[in-house]
Amino acid sequence: MSNIIILGAQWGDEGKGKVVDLLSEKFDIVTRYQGGHNAGHTVFVGTKKFVLKLIPSGILRGKRAVIGNGVVLDPGALLDEMQTLDQTGIDVGRLLAISNRAHVIFPFHRLVEKASESREGRTAIGTTSRGIGPCYEDKIARRGIRVADLLDRGNFRALFDSLGADKQTFANAFHIDGHIDYAATREQYEAFADRIRGMVCDTSRLLNDAIRAGQRVLFEGAQGTMLDIDHGTYPFVTSSSAASGGACTGSGVAPTRIGGVLGVSKAYTTRVGGGPFPTELKDSTGERIRKAGNEFGAVTGRPRRCGWFDVPLLRYTSDVNGFDSLVITKLDVLDGFDEIQVCTAYRTGGQITDQVPATAYEMETAEPVYEVLPGWHGSTRGATSYDDLPAGAKAYLQYLAAKVGVEVGCISTGPERNETILLPGSRFQQLIG
Ligand code: GDP
Ligand code: IMO
Ligand code: MG
Repeated sequence: MSNIIILGAQWGDEGKGKVVDLLSEKFDIVTRYQGGHNAGHTVFVGTKKFVLKLIPSGILRGKRAVIGNGVVLDPGALLDEMQTLDQTGIDVGRLLAISNRAHVIFPFHRLVEKASESREGRTAIGTTSRGIGPCYEDKIARRGIRVADLLDRGNFRALFDSLGADKQTFANAFHIDGHIDYAATREQYEAFADRIRGMVCDTSRLLNDAIRAGQRVLFEGAQGTMLDIDHGTYPFVTSSSAASGGACTGSGVAPTRIGGVLGVSKAYTTRVGGGPFPTELKDSTGERIRKAGNEFGAVTGRPRRCGWFDVPLLRYTSDVNGFDSLVITKLDVLDGFDEIQVCTAYRTGGQITDQVPATAYEMETAEPVYEVLPGWHGSTRGATSYDDLPAGAKAYLQYLAAKVGVEVGCISTGPERNETILLPGSRFQQLIG
């Protein structure tokens, strides 16, 4: 079975967009299953740069793209993104399908988020301020509005007015600044509904019909496993199931239809926003990685926090996701380091452990135990063959695979499609075909 999930093995921004773009050539449909326009997936096609937020990256290859039921949809953001893609000649209206069961983000979700992030005495999560968390809150609280409701002319008004009244009560109680014209917002969303109506359907049915007809589906994760609501560094996480299990609930395709799971990890680690990060480098080495890797958020432009590769973290995310193979990206960023450190365990509470702590506090205070490896001096940038890599880079990759216990099946050596090494005979190659 050849339907594959590809997702981030760290805290997001691992290079999923580039890898999905590369692999989508082999698939018929690419689907997102969680998150929203908090994601920023960068793809270079030649010198042209695209940053996809809501729309699956496979659309750039002219593939059928699906926004699954697990996604939270801001219709304004979607229409903006569609317009940008349309201008480059991609017929999004024809290629995109949107789940009728996806939940809708409204402006008041951003207001609620602002209030909770800025509340005195609370440690901010450092969210993307897109209203993602509050929209998922409404979903779980069973008062959310779904795309099917948005399109339901008879009922949308009452649903919107009820949810709007809820939010206004909350805003008044907490003295939240920010005015929302509810009547104007409702009209705006009614207009959005008319613009997306033609793309909305039961996407679980669409995907299952396609699979029955022998088509291949690629599931594109957003965020990363350490931002997963259950398995990540709670509460410094996003509000969705970014891990591989989320691909099934978020798309309506069963686990029995999935053929494999690929994990994308940088050759080092980054994180945007707050929360624990044991291998973070707050010194000139961190700055060097940030500069070499151009580590600035694709959505918010914030500098990404940078640090060394963390083996216990990758072992943990490999367990949670069941990775068949790893894609190691941004190997080129480590070119020229005399030494490279790798975290092999944590020291916490006087003990050495290879377990990822459950609480943010414990993880915050965990000290990394490092092993020092020699770096390499040749360039890996743009390499397309494993044989062309410097010996030190090969040794580093072999070390990572052995320590994590999962093969490295693909290596990315630059942002462009062709700056990639596929390892012949790997499980990765078997799965992709
Ligand atoms: P995503 O959210 O996982 O899709 O990743 P982002 O697009 O947010 O961030 C990854 C960044 O690294 C983007 O700017 C990519 O263009 C870039 N990138 C991806 N792979 C490589 C690589 O192998 N080397 C270098 N130097 N840059 C890369
Ligand atoms: P991609 O798909 C990196 C982070 C935010 C914040 C936390 C919660 O590009 O890898 P949210 O707005 O989701 O409620 O914020 O999650 N975050 C990401 N970090 N890459 C992403 O997506 C992210 N999406 C959310 O910075 O710490
Ligand atoms: Mg990103």
